[in-house]
Amino acid sequence: MEAAVEFENVSVRYGSYTALDGVSLRIPEGAFVAIIGPNGAGKSTLLKLILGLLRPSEGEVRVFGRPALKVPAEWLGYVAQFKTLDRSFPALALELVASGLRRRWPFRLSAREREAALAALRRVRGEELADRRLSRLSGGELQRVYLARAFVRRPRMLLLDEPATGMDVLGEADMYRMLEQYQREHRATVLMITHDWEAARYHATHVLVLNRRVIGFGPPERALSDECLRRAFGHVGHPHELSFSVERRDA
Ligand SMILES: Nc1ncnc2c1ncn2[C@@H]1O[C@H](COP(=O)(O)OP(=O)(O)OP(=O)(O)O)[C@@H](O)[C@H]1O
Ligand SMILES: [Mg+2]
Repeated sequence: MEAAVEFENVSVRYGSYTALDGVSLRIPEGAFVAIIGPNGAGKSTLLKLILGLLRPSEGEVRVFGRPALKVPAEWLGYVAQFKTLDRSFPALALELVASGLRRRWPFRLSAREREAALAALRRVRGEELADRRLSRLSGGELQRVYLARAFVRRPRMLLLDEPATGMDVLGEADMYRMLEQYQREHRATVLMITHDWEAARYHATHVLVLNRRVIGFGPPERALSDECLRRAFGHVGHPHELSFSVERRDA
């Protein structure tokens, strides 16, 4: 099977700080990969390399067999962790979705663009949001609109940086259903950064545990082993449970 993503000994340095260190990885096409790791582990950096937004300091990144910088933009759908668009910008949800079709903001939509944006909104069950102003959307609704934007060109791969942020429990379950449906219909690859280990265990075909290096990569039950989690996070329990033992140690 063709690889969707290949990393060969990839390092990224921001000045003197090494954010990724000798990462080698092969993600098969059609995989649903959950990427987990502590804050600052280099997760967003890894997605930016695949998107060609960042060049590695060392090593090589290939996407569908091509150098990352030479991949057609329409093959990749992206939801960024931090949105650059000001929410007070007087735009409609439909226009934000359609902006995924162009390099510049689409001040006037063609009938074809309108239809594509509506289809993407339907896919995330957000048609009723189409004519709403961005400033009037709730956090979870806005996140859903961004997801539709990532879908709008029917990409071969979705790269989602903490897409469930702000979604309620049902919204999140719905999102997984939509992603799995899209993946089945288009034989697409999904890469999703999440802090939700349980969701990763349940929905992903592969889990990548990252902390500047690859700590584990494989089927969820293997990658989410106590050993990998301890190496990545320094512990395996939930912080609410941990605080008790920390207090006791201090006492
Ligand atoms: N443009 C930049 N310039 C300098 N340092 C950066 C830059 N971008 C990221 N870093 C640093 O690189 C490290 C990895 O950042 P990255 O955003 O990839 O982490 P992350 O795993 O996505 O974290 P989080 O879970 O908090 O989103 C962090 O320590 C961060 O401070
Ligand atoms: Mg991040």
